[in-house]
Amino acid sequence: MQNDWGGQSFAHPSGRLPIVGDGRSVDPSRPLKSMVGHAEKLGEPIFEIQVFDQKFVFVASAELAAELCDEQRFVKVLPPAVDALRDFAGDGLFTAHSHEHNWRLAHDLLRPAFTRTAMQSYHPVMVETLDELFAYWERLDGPIDVSRDMTKLTLETLARAALSRDFASFEGVDPHPFVAAMILALKSGQRIATLRTAPGGRLAVRRIRKRTQSSQDYVDELLDDIIATRRAQPPSEHDLLGIMLTARHPETGEQLDDTNIRHQILTFLVAGHETTSGALSFALYYLSRDPEVLAKAHAEVDALLGPDRDTVPTFEQVPQFRYLRRVLDEALRLWPTAPGFGRGPRETTTLSTGHVMRPQDWAIVLLPAVHRDPAVWGDDAERFDPDRFLPENSRGRLPHSYKPWGTGERSCIGRQFAQQEAILVLARLLHRYEITGDPDYELDIAERLTIVPKGFELRLTPRTPQRVAPDRPHGDPESDGSEPPSATCPHASARADGLDARA
Ligand code: HEM
Repeated sequence: MQNDWGGQSFAHPSGRLPIVGDGRSVDPSRPLKSMVGHAEKLGEPIFEIQVFDQKFVFVASAELAAELCDEQRFVKVLPPAVDALRDFAGDGLFTAHSHEHNWRLAHDLLRPAFTRTAMQSYHPVMVETLDELFAYWERLDGPIDVSRDMTKLTLETLARAALSRDFASFEGVDPHPFVAAMILALKSGQRIATLRTAPGGRLAVRRIRKRTQSSQDYVDELLDDIIATRRAQPPSEHDLLGIMLTARHPETGEQLDDTNIRHQILTFLVAGHETTSGALSFALYYLSRDPEVLAKAHAEVDALLGPDRDTVPTFEQVPQFRYLRRVLDEALRLWPTAPGFGRGPRETTTLSTGHVMRPQDWAIVLLPAVHRDPAVWGDDAERFDPDRFLPENSRGRLPHSYKPWGTGERSCIGRQFAQQEAILVLARLLHRYEITGDPDYELDIAERLTIVPKGFELRLTPRTPQRVAPDRPHGDPESDGSEPPSATCPHASARADGLDARA
């Protein structure tokens, strides 16, 4: 993982010190915010942060990011923060190296869990879990903590869709101990990543590992128990775990072993729940801030769902919320909840910046910077504007300039799941409630491996049937002239399954 780029140097923040390097220029509780600030200040396509012996190289321009997304020349690499998660998630899909046998095997075996048919079977689970969230809100007084409740919802939905298992998320305010244990492991993974190369770091890493061991044991035991219980039952492919336990590779007949299945379950829970809850929370933040955007969103849900606030969109209706899809896309532009990914070359290569990159060198594509590159997004890149994703505005945009789902064969396998869930949630929530944020709230972001708004609250007021535009025709998704969902992310890797293909 040592990343010295053969001694080449890059732009870096001023005030570098011997030994610690640029460490002082990074706020340890908000490393992403620090990097995005450096990217803006330095204004370079590529820059570095040296922390002790470790060089972190970041790609901040859309053009260079596009170069690194070329699958012929580059592959995914695991930066230290992701590599540290292997302690926890082993060779699960997200933390596997592309050359590992288990990555290809799991990729081939688990894709069927994300086809349109599979997605259709998750729809009732998504609807039912959301009903429980609404019931939970109705028991609460006062404003809701958006990230907390979206996290409850997305974890619960995933646990049910993947494991047919209930985490009792709506029984109290505190999250399930499993979530607390997972978050502790994610946080310690990040700390381990920074400490590994620090003087005396090995000792600190050992101490952190010792402290988090009990959390890891708890999570492992819980999952092993779930797997063993299911193995004792007749085989069924009704959920992700069922597919993992029964699927055989069509050519080799190979199956995933139980340890790998545990790693995969953990991977899906970790990779899938907070990313989606963050995306929903940022979307709700921007909706609550802009009365015009909110009015358009309300108009769309009212047009499609009519005056009864209990109406549930059908599976087929979800892709018709085209304005909501643009809201989601724009929220993920400004705050991609998986904010970066690592890339390295297959062979030694020279970048367009003139830097030579060898197979052992890596760089992190810093998505919030790439998604604000004025060369692509204009001088008002900070402004939230869902209509950037109208087809006429997306046409001709630099390929790979919008990458919240990652890139190439290692891009997000759960993308359709997340989009289906997020749009369903936004549609039903906005159809049922007026949302009001605190006008004094300033966006603050909690940073782990993923990002979510911190301390963001919303007051929900039930909408009455009368207030749901009674005079608008139902099923009028084109009322604002917006585009089908398939056109909203023109540069993402082509997929023949799920939401996009359906639209
Ligand atoms: C808004 C929600 C989500 C976002 C923004 C997101 C983003 C990403 C990104 C950027 C990557 C690539 C990471 C890299 O190259 O290192 C990725 C990979 C992955 N995501 Fe997601 N994700 C989301 C939801 C989900 C969901 C719901 C699931 C599971 C149901 C999921 C499962 C995965 C897995 C397993 C991988 C690794 C795929 C592989 O390497 O083969 N994600 N995701």
